Amino acid sequence: MSLLTIYQYPDSALAKRADEVKEIDGQTNVLLTNMVDTMYSANGIGLAANQVGVHQRAIVVDIDSEDRGKKLVKLINPRIVESSGQITWEEGCLSVIDYSAEVERAAKVLVRGWTLDQKEVDIEAEDLLAVCLQHEIDHLDGTLFIDRISRLKRDMYSKRLKRMAKSGQTPDGERIPPI
Ligand code: NI
Repeated sequence: MSLLTIYQYPDSALAKRADEVKEIDGQTNVLLTNMVDTMYSANGIGLAANQVGVHQRAIVVDIDSEDRGKKLVKLINPRIVESSGQITWEEGCLSVIDYSAEVERAAKVLVRGWTLDQKEVDIEAEDLLAVCLQHEIDHLDGTLFIDRISRLKRDMYSKRLKRMAKSGQTPDGERIPPI
């Protein structure tokens, strides 16, 4: 098991768009396995490759934070092909410490991507899974959930982050499973 370092906002690695995976091979398998271990170890329910400094379009999602593995999704080159409705969900993120905010997303999505055994798959998702998939695909495009909230809220968070860094204060702990 190999745990990877999760980059934290405002690291510029998080704002960079990830590249398409051209070949799914053993390296992709190692990357996704390490990403799953890293996500579980951090008690997260989603992780995108650029959060661990790898600019490839690969994500892992497991929305069941109690019973791990059953709902695990590993997806390469994921993209949203259909979306409908609207939902507001409180989101946190493994790269945004000690913060959560309500974000508006599509309520239902159809996501297409590739599995490790090189099969193209469609995932129909709603509610939390839909939110997670949109959040991770956002990561691959260099977008964080805090880019989708008001500038005022984002500025307030940035200031709090600076104060925390200055005082050496540690976060209170996550309130909701980060995506
Ligand atoms: Ni995130």
